[in-house]
Amino acid sequence: MTLTGSAPAKVILFGEHAVVYGFPAIALPLADLRAYAEYQSSDQPLSIMSEHKPPASSDPLAAMARQTLRFLGVGQARGRIQIRSDIPVASGLGSGAAVSAALGRTVARMLGRELANADLNALVYEIEKLHHGTPSGIDNSVVVYEKPVYFVKDRRLDFLDLATPLSLVVADSGDAALTRETVAHVRVLRAKQPERTNAILRQIGGIAECARSQLELGDSRQLGALMTRNHELLRALELSSPALDGLVEAAMSAGAYGAKLSGGGRGGNIIALVDARRSAKVRGALLRAGAARAFTSAIGEKAAKP
Ligand code: PMV
Repeated sequence: MTLTGSAPAKVILFGEHAVVYGFPAIALPLADLRAYAEYQSSDQPLSIMSEHKPPASSDPLAAMARQTLRFLGVGQARGRIQIRSDIPVASGLGSGAAVSAALGRTVARMLGRELANADLNALVYEIEKLHHGTPSGIDNSVVVYEKPVYFVKDRRLDFLDLATPLSLVVADSGDAALTRETVAHVRVLRAKQPERTNAILRQIGGIAECARSQLELGDSRQLGALMTRNHELLRALELSSPALDGLVEAAMSAGAYGAKLSGGGRGGNIIALVDARRSAKVRGALLRAGAARAFTSAIGEKAAKP
C-alpha cells in the first residue's frame, strides 16, 4: 500500500519580524509548490527517508514522526516514509513547516486516521521551535490550513477572503535566509535602540492591518504600494541585502504594483505583486537582474487538495 500527505509552501505578504512582537501579519499559501511524504507499507520499524538519508534521531523529521505517533497514542509503527519537497530550503518559503505538516498527515493516514488541522498545527509548531527557536507560529498556520491568514501571535486565527486572485512573482536571491539569525538581529536592535525599532515594527503592523482591507477590496495598486513600503521598513531594520534590493528595483522597473523581501530576510526570496498579464515580463526582468530562479503563483484560485 502507498499513500501520500502533502502541504504547500508559503509567502509572508506583510508583517514578518513585527509578527514576533505581537503585530499582525499576512501570509499566503503557494498551492503549486509543495512538500510530500509518501508512505509504503513494510514489516520493518518505521523509517523516514529524506534525500536518501534516514534522519538522525535529533532531526526535526524524526521528532515530528515521534510526537505525531505519541499524539495518536501509538507506541510503534511499521513502514517507510519518503520525504520529497519542491520547496527550496532556507529561502523564506516555509519548507520546514511544509515538510513537517506533510509528514504528520502521512503518519496519521498510515494508521487509518486523519489529524484535525488544529492538532496538526500545534504539532508542527513544536517542530518549528527546533528550526527557529522562537517562531511566531505564522508559518505552521498558513501551511497547515492552506488558506490566506491574518495572523496575530497567541490570538485566534483569521482566514482572509481575497476579493480577486493575486498574481505574485517569487524570485530567489540565491542567498540563504537564516531566520534564527535575523530574528536574533532584531532582538539586539530592539535592545540597543528600543524607540526607533519599536516605532518601525509598529508601522509594519499598521501596514498589515491596512493591507487586510485592501485584500478584501481587491485593490492591487494600493496593496503593491503597501508592499514596497513594508520593504523599506525592513531595510531600515537592516534585514535586506543589495541582492534583495536589486530584485525589488528590477520588479518595480518592469511594472510590478509593488515588491518586498519575504520571510526572514538578508537572503531568500522577494515577492512582486503584478497584473497577471505582466507576470512574464516581470519574471524575465528578475532573472536578468540575477535571480537564481523565479516563478509566478496565482493565489486565491482553486487550491490543490492537501
Ligand atoms: O521562516 P521564514 O523565513 O518565512 O520567516 C518567518 C518570519 C519571521 O517573522 C521572521 C519569524 C517568525 O517566527 O514569524
